[in-house]
Amino acid sequence: MITLLVSLLLLITNSQAKADTNENFMKFELVKLPYAVDGLEPVIGKSTIEFHHGKHLQTYVNNLNNLIQGTKFENADLETIVRESDGVLFNNAGQVLNHNLYFTQFSPKGGGQPSGKLAEAINAAWGSFENFQKEFEAAGVSLFGSGWVWLAADKDGKLSITKEANAGNPVTKGLKPLLGFDVWEHAYYLDYQNRRADHLKELWKIVDWKAVEARF
Ligand SMILES: [Fe+2]
Repeated sequence: MITLLVSLLLLITNSQAKADTNENFMKFELVKLPYAVDGLEPVIGKSTIEFHHGKHLQTYVNNLNNLIQGTKFENADLETIVRESDGVLFNNAGQVLNHNLYFTQFSPKGGGQPSGKLAEAINAAWGSFENFQKEFEAAGVSLFGSGWVWLAADKDGKLSITKEANAGNPVTKGLKPLLGFDVWEHAYYLDYQNRRADHLKELWKIVDWKAVEARF
């Protein structure tokens, strides 16, 4: 009888431990959109958001959670994983970080120009906001294949534009990412087909500069 009770207790304890472990492995979750799925229309259509956020990003999140199981990254934060991993783990972690920044930098009431210290730093680096926009768009248009264009800051607050292939993020160069435009075709093909330049030009209308300034 006692043996039976002990076995039962062990079984319960084991399944509890398994439940805890599985919960742990789902540590990264799909970032919540700070707007409705159709909130960024017509700049980004509802279908694009549904696929990009609900399918593409969800897949990266699922892959990331599966890949870190049983590795030294199991309890690491996302930026650490991106900085210290490579291969398929880097690709998925990078894309989760990139898209978390991407989806939370837009607003249906976005657009206009940054203010305060960010505006000053942009003027110091490019002379004017318009010059910065031109260079940022040109970097995105000239990036071959899939990737990202970023506005990034160094530890002294000096700004630069970086072009990153595939899942790249400026954190791997010791820089802080402030604003990122996704130039993977999945970000714009349903709305703009091959017209990447038109898409990048339109994105300025929905940039939430308050969210970007908060990262600076
Ligand atoms: Fe994307």
